[in-house]
Formats: sequence, structure tokens, C-alpha cells
Amino acid sequence: MAGSVLGEIFKISTWGESHGKALGVVVDGCPAGIELSEEDIQVYLDRRKPGRNAFTTNRKESDQVEILSGVFEGKTTGTPISLVVFNKDQRSKDYSQIANCYRPGHADYTFDKKYGFRDYRGGGRSSGRETIGRVAAGAIACKVLKELGIEFMAYTKSIGEIEIKTFDKSVIARDPLSMPDTEASKKAQEYLEKIRKEQDSAGGVIECRINHLPVGIGNTVFDKLDANLAKAMFSLGSVKGFEIGDGFNVSSMRGSENNDNFILKDGKIAKETNHSGGILGGMSDGDEVVFRVAIKPTPSISRPQKTVTISGEETTIEIHGRHDPVIAPRAVVVVESMAAITVLDLLLSNMCSSIDKIKKVYSE
Ligand SMILES: Cc1cc2nc3c(=O)[nH]c(=O)nc-3n(C[C@H](O)[C@H](O)[C@H](O)COP(=O)(O)O)c2cc1C
Repeated sequence: MAGSVLGEIFKISTWGESHGKALGVVVDGCPAGIELSEEDIQVYLDRRKPGRNAFTTNRKESDQVEILSGVFEGKTTGTPISLVVFNKDQRSKDYSQIANCYRPGHADYTFDKKYGFRDYRGGGRSSGRETIGRVAAGAIACKVLKELGIEFMAYTKSIGEIEIKTFDKSVIARDPLSMPDTEASKKAQEYLEKIRKEQDSAGGVIECRINHLPVGIGNTVFDKLDANLAKAMFSLGSVKGFEIGDGFNVSSMRGSENNDNFILKDGKIAKETNHSGGILGGMSDGDEVVFRVAIKPTPSISRPQKTVTISGEETTIEIHGRHDPVIAPRAVVVVESMAAITVLDLLLSNMCSSIDKIKKVYSE
């Protein structure tokens, strides 16, 4: 199946199904000499693991990663890095009810029509478990970028109508909904309990910030930084909106409000404000990159819904498998990972953007 490869230099191929034997990723183009252990990757996978709290699916998976290749004596060798996570808690019978009809809001109908066949055990490649490979690759990208001081931070900005009002970075990691505002998180947890009793699900917004990105990352025309980030985010199941900086609000602003004036700060060019979200002309402008993604409510809900069988009869469906009542908090680390993969690939391609840079490399 085409469509599982991303990137030009730092290139990832994810593989595996929700209820297959294993899932994983092959990362090609990772520079040699980066210290890399299974623990480095595990920290990221543990952030996306199911069953961590009351608001994730209760599927019990340890999601233990194994490095199969590309690392020797604790360092990357510059050859393909192959990573695998074996599935442990597949219960395909949970999905027998959906084998013969299409789940509203999921990918069943389109998969069936496109391929004439689908893996109905948890959605196969359209399952949220496919993101395991992305997060494992993202952990490597983050490690490489950290060497250059580039840092990523994502968090849940809102769930349903409940939005953060304050920002405390230190609480994000321990908050069950990955929110930086404990009060907003409490309200969101009450809301989730309520909608769960009503056999329903909730959507949310994730915000991501990238710091210390040098000016000029992103290629003009088709490979702009914002265009690539948008593609990376929309490649995630359940993402229905993407915006950079002031995003959709720019449509009601004036030029004088939206433009970020240039100033000199300690003798260096800087911007007075950051309405641009750190990207101008498709390239990083040296400011913090800020973007948001809108995540739809989990499509699999236990409330009865109308649908049609694969043989064309109308019926109702109640989905009782193991599903997240809200996707956004689990997708936070996935968003961070996809951002890191995208930035690293463009950062590597930026190294040959001018003859001066090429000379600098080969003069050594
Ligand atoms: C991290 C993550 C976890 C997800 N968990 C679930 C889930 O438990 N149940 C479900 O129905 N969909 C889940 N999804 C969403 C589906 O994968 C997605 O809605 C489906 O593939 C249809 O694609 P679309 O929403 O982009 O149209 C999850 C997505 C992500 C990124």
C-alpha cells in the first residue's frame, strides 16, 4: 500500500497493523554518531501508550521497543534504523461486530471501496496504533535536534468547549489530559466523565511550540515549512484543522495588526510580535514556531448509530471495543514527533541551500 513513507533525507517508513503481530518503523538518513538507546525511544512511546489513565483506551500494551538495526556500541551508524513493537493485547473478537458494516466517522467505508478488502480488526493501518512508528522515529528526530538546541513542546489546549486559561509548563507531563492548566484539566475531566456516560466522545485542540529553530528552515514553493507541517499533521487520523500563528483569525485582522514589525534586539534583527507563528515565506523566521491542530471526537462510540452493511442493508451499530473517549491527549506526543521529523528533514536539506554552506562542509 503506497503512502507509508515520509521525508526526503530523514526518511521514515511506518509499517504494521493494530491487530497484526507487530508495528514499527524504518528510519533512513539519520546521521551517524548520535547516542541512541531503547530507553531514549521508550520515554516517548510511554507518553502515547494506552491504559495510562481513565481517559485512554483500556487496551493493555507495554509497547516495548526493540532496536533491530542501525545502532552499534550505543551510537547510530548512519544505516537504516529498524524499530519494532510487538502487539500483546489483540482481541480481534472485539471487532467481529464491525466486520460486516461500516463505522460512521471511521475509515472502513473508504478502505473497502478503494481496496475491495479491509482489515476490520481495529482498522488495521487506519488505527491510532499506527502512530507507534511515528513516535519512535520522532524520538530519534528530537534527539538529533536537541544536539542543536532545538526543542519541541506540545500540549492539549482545549477539550470540547473547555480551553486553558493559564500556562504552567511543569504540570503538562503529569496532567492526565496533558494540559498546562490544572483547573481547566479538572473541568475537562468532568466533561469527559459526563459524555462517557452519555456513550459519546469529545474532540480537542493540540498546540505545539518549536524553539530555537534557526532562520531559513523550509524550502520555497512546494516544500515550505508550513506546508510540510500541515501535511505531517493531516496525515494523522482524526486531524481536521491546522493553523500557524494567528491562523484563521487573520481573516478578520488588518495588515497593521497582523504584520510583525522588525526591530533590533541586542544588535540582532527580531520581531516585535509573533502573529506569523515563526514562519515567513515558508521559512522559519527565528521566532518561536507555534501551530495548532484540531482533533475530531473519537469516531468509535457505544451509542447506537445508523449505518449500512457491506451487502447494502441499513442497520444500527454499537461499538463496544476499547476506544479513547478523547483522542487529543494521546496525540500530543504524536504531534510533537511529526513536527520533529518534518523539521529535521528540512534542516538537513537546508545544509545544501547555498554554495557557501556546501564549501563550509567540504573545506573541513
Ligand atoms: C493517537 C490516536 C488514537 C486514536 N484512537 C482511536 C480510537 O480509540 N478509536 C477510534 O475510533 N479512532 C481512533 N483514532 C482516530 C482514527 O484513527 C481516525 O478517525 C480514522 O482513521 C479515520 O480517519 P479521519 O478521522 O482522519 O477521517 C485515533 C487516532 C489517533 C491519532
